[in-house]
Amino acid sequence: TSNQMWGGRFAAGPDAIMEAINASIGFDKRLAAQDIAGSRAHADMLAATGILSDSDAAAIKEGLLTVLSEIDDGRFVFSTALEDIHMNVEARLKQIVGEPAGRLHTARSRNDQVATDFKLWVRDQLDAAESGLLALMRALVGQAEAGADWVMPGFTHLQTAQPVTWGHHMLAYVEMFARDLSRVRDARARMNESPLGSAALAGTGFAIDRHMTAEALGFDRPTANSLDAVSDRDFALEFLSVASICAMHLSRFAEELVIWSSAQFRFVTLSDRFSTGSSIMPQKKNPDAAELIRAKIGRIFGANVALMTVMKGLPLAYSKDMQEDKEQVFDAADNLMLALAAMEGMVRDMSANREALEAAAASGFSTATDLADWLVRETGLPFREAHHATGALVALAEQRGCDLPDLTLEDMKGVHDAITEGVFDVLGVHNSVASRTSYGGTAPVRVLEQVTRWKETLG
Ligand code: ARG
Repeated sequence: TSNQMWGGRFAAGPDAIMEAINASIGFDKRLAAQDIAGSRAHADMLAATGILSDSDAAAIKEGLLTVLSEIDDGRFVFSTALEDIHMNVEARLKQIVGEPAGRLHTARSRNDQVATDFKLWVRDQLDAAESGLLALMRALVGQAEAGADWVMPGFTHLQTAQPVTWGHHMLAYVEMFARDLSRVRDARARMNESPLGSAALAGTGFAIDRHMTAEALGFDRPTANSLDAVSDRDFALEFLSVASICAMHLSRFAEELVIWSSAQFRFVTLSDRFSTGSSIMPQKKNPDAAELIRAKIGRIFGANVALMTVMKGLPLAYSKDMQEDKEQVFDAADNLMLALAAMEGMVRDMSANREALEAAAASGFSTATDLADWLVRETGLPFREAHHATGALVALAEQRGCDLPDLTLEDMKGVHDAITEGVFDVLGVHNSVASRTSYGGTAPVRVLEQVTRWKETLG
């Protein structure tokens, strides 16, 4: 038998393979709550504009709540023959309230319906991402405050560069996640227009009130062009792009945690709650959560590329290709939220090993730049020459197998005779970081200022 929703012109039902490729109910059941919210707003509007009787609208709205509770309780029987969440809900509504159910789809199409449902869903995810980011930022600020003046090596090329403070390093990630947060908020503001009432593609001849449904669903306004509204998936793509950048940040930090928690670095100790053991090597404590966060970016990037590829080349307006949008976004969203939560937990629980950080900061000639700067300041040497002289001292120390502060004043004078005892003051890592007071620099005073600013911003 032909489809009960659209089968009027069909003599036969679909082939089983057709049904299998066409059905989206297996995944779009996740839009049930949004679908029902959209339908309830639509029914209210149809009644307010006199297109639907008040009693029909009331029966429909009540019936939709029953459907929602059946879905929430797991009592609802989803049907592949009914293709998607929209028709599954409507068919069940028909069983519950009878004839009025058939009037709900007046002045509406599944094209504007699915765009509306999906936007509502993505909007919730943007809100969840906002909360997740805020929680993670608070955890990082907590770490930064506790270790505002702890010294650690700063790296470039993963080679020791200059000493920095733990707080400064933590706040670098706060800046990154703050940009993600700002992108999340921008995306939300841009996408918050209601497609509902665009109907199939051309709008409708019924005297509907799109402002009313837009407002009921928390949108800022209705979309201005019905063709665009049913064929736009920018909001999903923007979510995936924002998610990709955020996941990239998470992945970079995860990589640092993997390195830092190794026995060779020992910069941090991850809590037992966010580590796992090995079934063969009894000594192991593995940073699996960090590794999985590092890996999640693959799925999120993949979703972004997949949906971009689905959308490219699609003529206006709706094409069934667009049904492929949901699984990508669902998977990316699930994994982003999980990664944010796992990262927050790890950051909250981890302890930085202050001594190991400081010992590492002092090795690798990390204060060579301070020595060169001292030569410039105290002897008036041009920086390039000071750089060269310092390089010679590094080579000497390397040859001796010692660090810069272990060289004698005679060694120093051998390279440049203007060097005095005072140079040793700048070779210590604490003096080094304390001296870097330029705005945005690593000095503890600057870090604490930023901690204060973030605590005010984050509440
Ligand atoms: N399941 C469809 C989707 O996800 C709903 C829209 C179907 N519209 C249509 N004209 N077949 O995109």
